[in-house]
Amino acid sequence: MLIVPDSYSSGLAGKLSDISGIKISAPTIRRFPDAETYVRVGAVNGHDIVLVAQLYPGQNGRITELLLLADALHDAGAKSIAAVIPYLPYARQDKRFQDGEALSMKTVAKLLLSVGVTGLLCVDLHFHKKPETFDFHGVKCTNISAGKLLLDHVRSVYPGIEAIGPDLGSSEMIANATGKKAVMEKVKICTNCGKRQSECACKGKDITYKVVTLKSDIEVRGKNVMILDDIISSGTTMLAAVDKLKESGAKKMIIGATHGLFLNNSLESLKAKADYLVVTDSVETACSKVSLAPLIAGSLKGLFKTH
Ligand code: R5P
Repeated sequence: MLIVPDSYSSGLAGKLSDISGIKISAPTIRRFPDAETYVRVGAVNGHDIVLVAQLYPGQNGRITELLLLADALHDAGAKSIAAVIPYLPYARQDKRFQDGEALSMKTVAKLLLSVGVTGLLCVDLHFHKKPETFDFHGVKCTNISAGKLLLDHVRSVYPGIEAIGPDLGSSEMIANATGKKAVMEKVKICTNCGKRQSECACKGKDITYKVVTLKSDIEVRGKNVMILDDIISSGTTMLAAVDKLKESGAKKMIIGATHGLFLNNSLESLKAKADYLVVTDSVETACSKVSLAPLIAGSLKGLFKTH
């Protein structure tokens, strides 16, 4: 077995190699003057390959590099290729919300399969909330959760802290991390008519919806609380949850998520409201205090098991 990192994953690949003892075969990757990507892989004939790719930010270009690497590995005689993509971009377009839309996560799976990637390891996949192995449009996908890792990290600073999910979608992650259900209810309210998005009849491109968190299903008054989610994108879900929990009397507020994109300066807004903020290194940020390497390393060998 060999680990092959893309040009953004040498750090993660190094940690995986140190923990697992699997050697690295570093490819040569360069950019042409017109920004196209050149890749050349080493001697991989007959090896199972763990292709490590960190695809955010700049996912459109990084996916191209990943496809070139996988195809080159395949052509060079790799026995099998499993991609380790801790944060899978395009996973949030898992449905057609309107006719004619691309089902983007299916397209990503088809592209991976077409270049010989038959296994995939992701962490807290947005469209697949359970940690388990399943068929991803022909690719054997293993979804693992960093919830427990994040909770253990926070509990080393705030022992006994309660964890809660900011919406119903986070219930699997919370149950997996804590062994019990503790989630809040999130709704989108039309800023024009005040109704929920599902009941709103307003039409036109100027309609906007505000994220509001309604209630928590555990008592938080006087307690330190960690809000735990798969992803912080615009930050609106977390900000609404923090506001609600503060209003409900929570003491210290800790924010934790697997993937921190922190769009629209949300890192600053969240830092201003929380006592502690932590995300993993699936996307490198100033708050990436938890490394996914031990969790991922523990799952590598299973990627090549045939049954
Ligand atoms: C929702 O289902 C997800 O688990 C996250 O809560 C959501 O995608 C976070 O997005 P944002 O930070 O933009 O509110």
